[in-house]
Amino acid sequence: MSLTGDPRHHLTRSDMPGVVRMLDPYVYRSPTGHRNPQDCPVCQGGPHLEEILQYENPNTIAAVILEPIVGTNGILVPPDFYLPSIAETCRKYGILLICDEVMAGYGRTGKWFASEHWNVEPDILTSAKGINSGYVPLGTMSVSKDLADWLNDYPLPGGLTYAGHPLACASGVAAIRAMEEEDALGNATRVGQLMRDQLAAMAESHPCIGDIRGKGMFNGIEQVKNRETREMLVPFAARGDDAAPMTQMMKAAMDKGLYLSFFSNVIRLTPPLNITEEDMRHGLSVLDEVLEIADAHCH
Ligand SMILES: Cc1ncc(COP(=O)(O)O)c(C=O)c1O
Repeated sequence: MSLTGDPRHHLTRSDMPGVVRMLDPYVYRSPTGHRNPQDCPVCQGGPHLEEILQYENPNTIAAVILEPIVGTNGILVPPDFYLPSIAETCRKYGILLICDEVMAGYGRTGKWFASEHWNVEPDILTSAKGINSGYVPLGTMSVSKDLADWLNDYPLPGGLTYAGHPLACASGVAAIRAMEEEDALGNATRVGQLMRDQLAAMAESHPCIGDIRGKGMFNGIEQVKNRETREMLVPFAARGDDAAPMTQMMKAAMDKGLYLSFFSNVIRLTPPLNITEEDMRHGLSVLDEVLEIADAHCH
């Protein structure tokens, strides 16, 4: 709760001291105003991190934690050079890199872990959700060989009632086997690409579609009132009346049997990894209808 920048943490104010946040590599809305991610120090990764490290003193920083593809906050796929650049900067200063793969891991992006898309091996990797689709509560923290060796001499003095719970772990092993047997990653990659291709075709008749992004079955469409200015359909973290165009779309979709989730002006399209092409096309046909609600706000 302390580490996340998700506005839900405002509700708990459980902030522990010593946390410094970085900006997201939000290519569509570069935090530095650049249209080309190569020109943006935040989207490049290393330069933005390096600047923060200079302010904070790199010797005082234990770790950098990030989601390789930011999930809740809009399915933000970084440029290809981003994660390697962050990893290199961490290495340069002896700072650990922690990849939070709770949403992006276990096949969601078409690879077992999203960090594999960029050949980055974090020092610590966290996972949950997709490890067994949540049928039994299970979360993991995996560490590199170097850290594991170190932990042999300096055990982590923690104890959790359910750590290593045999039933939960067995469900994880079974889920991984089933995903291998059914080629869930291959399906997520193939149908996910078809989905983004079809969304691109739909964008021609929906001015509200500003950006389509994702990998595998981890996709989002960012909605705008105007494609030129990229004015957001609803404000960041909108709630109540401010979020009306989004909530109306969700309700209209639900009435037609399609569950959609959203945050701010981004609809997340994250169906099961084993979705059939037919079901995916059916879902998009419902989406095609309800997007007209957002189109009505375009100018
Ligand atoms: C990206 C991300 N990290 C961490 C968590 C927390 O994971 P857990 O509930 O397994 O502790 C979540 C939960 O939704 C998440 O989405």
